[in-house]
Amino acid sequence: MSGKTILVTGGSRSGKSRHALQLTRTEIGPKLFIATAEPFDEEMTERIKKHQNERGKEWITIEEPLDPAIIVREKGNQPGYIVLDCITLWLSNMVMKNMARQAILDRVNNFIRECKNSTSEIIVITNELGSGIVPMEPSARSFRDIAGETNQILASEFDEVINMVSGIPVTIKTSQKDKNTPLSEEDYSEHEFAPGKKQGLYEAIYKRRDVRHFIPKPIDPVKLGRVLDAAHHAGSVGYMQPWNFLVITDPIVKNKISLNFKNANEEAAQKFSDEKQKLYNSLKLEGIQDAAVNICVTCDRTRFGPNVLGRNTVFETDLFSTCCAVQNLWLAARAEGLAVGWVSILSQEQLKQDLDIPDHVQPVAYLCVGHTEAFYSKPMLESAGWAQRLPVEKLIYYNKWQGTPTDYKVQLSNSTKND
Ligand SMILES: Cc1cc2nc3c(=O)[nH]c(=O)nc-3n(C[C@H](O)[C@H](O)[C@H](O)COP(=O)(O)O)c2cc1C
Repeated sequence: MSGKTILVTGGSRSGKSRHALQLTRTEIGPKLFIATAEPFDEEMTERIKKHQNERGKEWITIEEPLDPAIIVREKGNQPGYIVLDCITLWLSNMVMKNMARQAILDRVNNFIRECKNSTSEIIVITNELGSGIVPMEPSARSFRDIAGETNQILASEFDEVINMVSGIPVTIKTSQKDKNTPLSEEDYSEHEFAPGKKQGLYEAIYKRRDVRHFIPKPIDPVKLGRVLDAAHHAGSVGYMQPWNFLVITDPIVKNKISLNFKNANEEAAQKFSDEKQKLYNSLKLEGIQDAAVNICVTCDRTRFGPNVLGRNTVFETDLFSTCCAVQNLWLAARAEGLAVGWVSILSQEQLKQDLDIPDHVQPVAYLCVGHTEAFYSKPMLESAGWAQRLPVEKLIYYNKWQGTPTDYKVQLSNSTKND
């Protein structure tokens, strides 16, 4: 499965490189930086050094002034990131080697092909050169032209295009892989939400992520109120509403839960062997202390007495109902720009003890809630190579277990199939 391709464009000093790195900040997996710049003089050497320091130790830098397609082909066969900075210098290097226009465009197209085949997510930085006055020099004009032409090809072939304007990213092309395709008016009929509203709902669903990286920024209590009220509007068996929401901000309580996680996680790691255990231990699976708020969602198994409408045959439906509330919470939080991470690697007995939860109440979800620098573009476990999304068409049966379609078949859009 190929990763997303993103083009970051803009004028010089518009914040392109900083934003490209920010897009990778909270993702797991190897991070490779292809530098096309060559240190011709002292100023350039200094600039390259400054950028290297800004990137941090997790980055591997490869200098490739002429054919970055080779690097993408060799290194892009795994989840992770490849950032190329920048197209303009690459083009300039080829021009300086007296390469003909067509030979340059062939290389550009070959590079795009490799990017589209790559498993890693590719972020490419370029410059908008065409907005100023027409250069006097014919060679400068022809360079401006090939830079513009290359940018157009990249923008048309890449999944997403971001234009940096005075440090502010403006998305001018949205990825189909984000399932963010605008819905047309034709899709709008009686009882349906208007296209914009429907799109908002799907956006919350597809852009919801389990997040483990938080920034120290408090949560607006009004926002959290809306999120918890959305949770409270979930369906529940017999209208039982068995949930409670324990909002935790006390660092002492968080420390206790964090210790619980540490012990449970050590035990959980032992279940995997060799390479899988190594990978497991490299994963960040909680953000208990970093998240501004923790919320324990519980299920009161005795609410409304022993006979609840609809629950007499399947006793666990109260737990299912609580999960519905958690999903509402997760989606509403995403729409509010709040990140949520579910931590289940906890001793339930210890959790109940630490939070004074009575016997008849069961903790269902322990959630870390807060602000994040960036939402992961795909599940973190996918980026880390732990698991992949199963093809949805393989999960749909007709009329019986493993039944194939006869008179009716669900249609899946291409974007759904490809993810
Ligand atoms: C019931 C449940 C328990 C989970 N427990 C954990 C956990 O303990 N630690 C963790 O890092 N993620 C946990 N997750 C998050 C999943 O790993 C995550 O949902 C999955 O990888 C898909 O990623 P996404 O939520 O970003 O789409 C849990 C999710 C659910 C629904």
